[in-house]
Amino acid sequence: MPGYKLAIDGPAGSGKSTISSLIAKKLGWTHIDTGAMYRAVTLLAIELKIDLHDEASYRFLESAQIHYDFDRIYINDRDVTEAIRSESVTQNVSLVSSFPYVRKRLVELQQSAAKNGNIVMDGRDIGTVVLPNADLKIFLTANVEERAKRRYKENVKKGKQAQISQVIEDIVIRDQKDSTRKESPLRKASDAVELDTTFLTIEEVVNKIIELTDKKEINHGV
Ligand code: DC
Repeated sequence: MPGYKLAIDGPAGSGKSTISSLIAKKLGWTHIDTGAMYRAVTLLAIELKIDLHDEASYRFLESAQIHYDFDRIYINDRDVTEAIRSESVTQNVSLVSSFPYVRKRLVELQQSAAKNGNIVMDGRDIGTVVLPNADLKIFLTANVEERAKRRYKENVKKGKQAQISQVIEDIVIRDQKDSTRKESPLRKASDAVELDTTFLTIEEVVNKIIELTDKKEINHGV
């Protein structure tokens, strides 16, 4: 049965995944982090040692199973949730996600996952391409320093070493690549609500979005 579709887009470190996951838990909805799916393809491409610059070599996606479930991401039933956060995946994911073939395949998977039930999907092109008819579209932003600070704290928590200046540089480069690529660049949908989270806590953002979903007709818990 079709349900409520909530699309959350925004740049790296804007808090999309954390916030989407919390909203899904609070409302009992399904959450899909599409960035994790692009990361999974990147991880698999690196493991298969294909030429990352050659779009034709991504045909392995015809048979690879990639799915996201309860905050975990799987490739052919192998849990790769931690592995997709590696440095080599982060460095290459913008390249991999720039190929129309890769995007077409993942958009199909994402649209099919959103067919039934209530869903929160986060990414870069959810409101513009994947779910253009979403019931509510949110575009999250935050200034670069704040986003880098959040990423840095996450890294430290995971025991990863990184300089804050390096994290800022990585974010600026990825923003630039994600928003200037030809295929489905990061862009706010014309009917999306923009939320600047720089000075808001996670809880405040979650509550604000839930408030906005309540204002649209909604079928909670279907
Ligand atoms: O959300 P993230 O930082 O984990 O996403 C990793 C990369 O995947 C990001 O740099 C761009 C790409 N991506 C995309 O192109 N489209 C999406 N819907 C989600 C992510």
